[in-house]
Amino acid sequence: MHILITGGAGFIGSHVVRHFVNSYPGYRITNIDKLTYAGNLENLRDLEQCANYHFVKGDITDGDAMVELFVSEKFDGVIHLAAESHVDRSIANPTEFVMTNVLGTVNLLNAARAAWKEGFNGKLFYHVSTDEVYGALGSEGMFTETTSYDPHSPYSASKASSDHFVRAYNDTYGLPVVISNCSNNYGPFQFPEKLIPLFINNIRNNKPLPVYGKGENVRDWLWVVDHAHAIDVIYHNGRQGETYNIGGRNEWRNIDLIRLLCCIMDRKLGRPEGESEKLITWVTDRAGHDFRYAIDSSKIQRELGWAPSLQFEEGLEKTVDWYLESQEWLDNVTSGEYKSYYRKMYGE
Ligand code: NAD
Ligand code: DAU
Repeated sequence: MHILITGGAGFIGSHVVRHFVNSYPGYRITNIDKLTYAGNLENLRDLEQCANYHFVKGDITDGDAMVELFVSEKFDGVIHLAAESHVDRSIANPTEFVMTNVLGTVNLLNAARAAWKEGFNGKLFYHVSTDEVYGALGSEGMFTETTSYDPHSPYSASKASSDHFVRAYNDTYGLPVVISNCSNNYGPFQFPEKLIPLFINNIRNNKPLPVYGKGENVRDWLWVVDHAHAIDVIYHNGRQGETYNIGGRNEWRNIDLIRLLCCIMDRKLGRPEGESEKLITWVTDRAGHDFRYAIDSSKIQRELGWAPSLQFEEGLEKTVDWYLESQEWLDNVTSGEYKSYYRKMYGE
């Protein structure tokens, strides 16, 4: 079995690559990644010597290169994670999201069709998507697999578009596909532009914690390794043409999560209780800020026996420990481009 994982040098992708390389020594895993600001081979240092792992630097927006790669490497399956993934960046620069998330996905679909033209038997195109395609919830209800799409940010619109293309290739050409839509992930190797690692880094450096709006928006947080396990069970046992929602059944208002994080950080850094909370700063809300996400993951639980493994408090503590032990990783990713991004987003 030869599987192509796209975006494997990013946050979730690196956990997926690690999980497949370690769990399936008989599989060959190829990781293609452009190594944008979010992609980092340091995330996969422990796999460099693994005989069943292979890295290719490449750009999914290059359609010809994708066809060449697929034809020469003869993949049996694709797990597609490569994307521009940060909502705030999509507000500042939507076009890049169209290029990577929409065109990049279509290029991969075309390459799969070209390489698998003798027949689709034993092949699978797995598209990794997000709960944000469903839009925003009020204080009640949950997203199910049949919730209508209603994306609000350029990021979620680009992911919704890519989901539609994947389904269209299934309907039109019979390409075997599966899609999963997951809630917010957290854990090691997440780039410090996203809420949890950004705030860990700022607390550590005594910098303001920019809370958007009133901090009342709700997200459903999932330990990233649990997402990698879910992708494994869907890849191997999911029904072709189906969608599976993945979520933690773990809803937190941003401000409650931030207070818990401050409390953990005070303890870990030996600061007096309440010290880190003083860094909380209320800033202008994100444009089009979705109020609440909550995933009903009963389908994957019922059909495939998957369930989240970790309680949030335990996972958050493990995450904090990892970032505090990984200062060199943080220093490397927060030098260079990060500094100008940070200045543009938050000022000094
Ligand atoms: P990330 O930004 O950490 O990583 C994205 C990776 O894609 C990076 O390694 C980057 O270099 C690579 N990439 C970007 N453009 C590329 C291109 N043109 N060609 C090849 N590689 C390219 O993202 P993430 O948070 O790990 O998300 C991975 C996937 O999971 C995305 O598709 C995202 O929409 C989806 N997702 C993320 C979350 C979350 O909470 N982070 C939740 C649900 C779904
Ligand atoms: O729901 C899945 C999605 O989760 C993924 O598809 C995205 O790729 C991923 O980035 C994430 O999107 P969010 O926008 O929910 O994540 P983010 O970490 O950017 O923000 C989480 C919440 O925290 C959100 O309500 C905005 C708020 N926030 C975020 C930042 C960066 C702040 O209040 N201040 C901040 O500085």
